[in-house]
Amino acid sequence: MRIAVYPGSFDPITKGHLDIIERSAKVFDKLIVAVLINPDKKGLFNIEERVELIEKVTNHLDNIEVDSFNGLLVNYMVENKAQVIIKGLRAVSDFEYEFQMALVNKKLNQDIETLCMMTSAKYAYLSSSSLKQVAMFGGCINDLVPEEIIDDIKMKLKK
Ligand code: PNS
Repeated sequence: MRIAVYPGSFDPITKGHLDIIERSAKVFDKLIVAVLINPDKKGLFNIEERVELIEKVTNHLDNIEVDSFNGLLVNYMVENKAQVIIKGLRAVSDFEYEFQMALVNKKLNQDIETLCMMTSAKYAYLSSSSLKQVAMFGGCINDLVPEEIIDDIKMKLKK
């Protein structure tokens, strides 16, 4: 069984992330979307909320699992019998960071491969941080996040 992991902060999931999830779910038997628990970085949503939002927008896909992890990604991969790390690439600036992480992960575990999937052109500009700024200042986020979670984001920013 080919199992891939799509790791990230997902604070919150965007249409760009969902596009990568839908496309890579077609390539693997199972795709685990794994939210990184980083106690040093307080996000807008807590880890449980991020997992819930991802579950909400992926329940049309039957080979997806949503989970969270801390520590090294390569250890999480081994624990979950996953062979491939999926990363989404938007721009050359993403490449440098992803290239470095892929090499570090390769150094830590030679059996694990990183595969980069190019963003769909319509989401090339999109990131969770730009989405949060737009939402915070009352801009329209309808094209940026899946419809099911627009209200969750608006509610969170009202608090
Ligand atoms: O969405 P992000 O914040 O770009 O995701 C980064 C993530 C979670 C993929 C990366 O920080 C990660 O893999 N963290 C786990 C710690 C680890 O394994 N580090 C070694 C690779 S540099």
